[in-house]
Amino acid sequence: MTATKLGILGFGGYTPDHVMTNDDWSKHVDTSDEWITARTGIKERRIADARQTTIDLAAPAAELALADAGLGIDAIDEIVVATDTPEAYAPDTAAFLQRRLGAREVTGYDLGGSGCAGFVLALDVGMSRVAQKGRRLLVVGVELLSRLMDWEDRSTCVLFGDAAGAVVLGPADDAVEILAATAGTDGAQAEILARLAGGTREPFTLEAAQTRAHMKIHFNGREVFRQAVKRMVKASREVLDQAGKNTEDLALVIPHQANRRIIDSVAKSLGATPEQMFVNIEKYGNTGSASVPLALFQARQQGRIQPGDLVLLTAFGAGFHWSAALLQF
Ligand code: ACO
Repeated sequence: MTATKLGILGFGGYTPDHVMTNDDWSKHVDTSDEWITARTGIKERRIADARQTTIDLAAPAAELALADAGLGIDAIDEIVVATDTPEAYAPDTAAFLQRRLGAREVTGYDLGGSGCAGFVLALDVGMSRVAQKGRRLLVVGVELLSRLMDWEDRSTCVLFGDAAGAVVLGPADDAVEILAATAGTDGAQAEILARLAGGTREPFTLEAAQTRAHMKIHFNGREVFRQAVKRMVKASREVLDQAGKNTEDLALVIPHQANRRIIDSVAKSLGATPEQMFVNIEKYGNTGSASVPLALFQARQQGRIQPGDLVLLTAFGAGFHWSAALLQF
């Protein structure tokens, strides 16, 4: 008998132990707790141990998602990793994670470069794989940003943190149904939020290494802010419309955690109350592709999501890319 629902079977998350506060940063670069808190809402973030690499964050999140789904790794047919801080240039992180988890030979691939929108984009793509092939997918959003950012650049280094989140997707009668999902791209402003050095346009050179060019994240904060609000709201309305639902129907909105003020503006435009918004940016900062799946995992752990709840995920990142999904618990 075929399963009645397609959606999420299990949730997982992982954050490194080491907490770095705004005061810690102020001892390293010219910044202050006051500036960071007022502009971003961030108070602290997690920083991976020097020995940890991307799969060391991804694997525990994946294992929790599998355990939550009540499945062993052999049940997984496909591994998808959304990340902008991969284990290596090639092969992709999915290959390293497949080996680490002891998975059988599966279809594996990364969704990289879509910044913080990557995980929800992976849900959109992944659901069509579930629908077409009846497969079970392990979808991970992971970021070890502290390893690949410029620790001397105060305008970026204080914003980011390290984390991972994961889900298992598949067909099951008791799945958390994905009622609608969407993803979009507008490359017209590709350079506005970008890490350009190291690719074919700006190949890696000794000079680039000396100036840490390959670690620089360039962004126009004000334009990113404007676009993030506009695109996350548009994507949210799209999935709500697709499912014939309204903001009032939502138990929880889980937006990408880039900036407290962006989250507040998204809430205002959607007409969502503060109680409907899930916010953990003060403790973790911007964790890129890990942001939404980590928040989703924590919202469940904290009892913020109950059976029957309708939950909206919405994300925005480099590209520009944006994505949203509507979950029926
Ligand atoms: N501490 C103290 N001062 C700082 C710091 C810091 N860490 N960083 C920058 N400043 C200074 C700047 O040098 C500048 O000084 P100046 O006026 O003397 O030149 C001043 O603060 C103002 O800088 P702005 O860039 O104008 O600050 P803004 O108010 O725009 O806030 C921020 C910056 C928080 C990044 C904001 O633009 C924003 O939230 N943007 C959207 C989110 C974003 O871009 N995130 C990046 C990741 S992308 C994503 O997640 C989607």
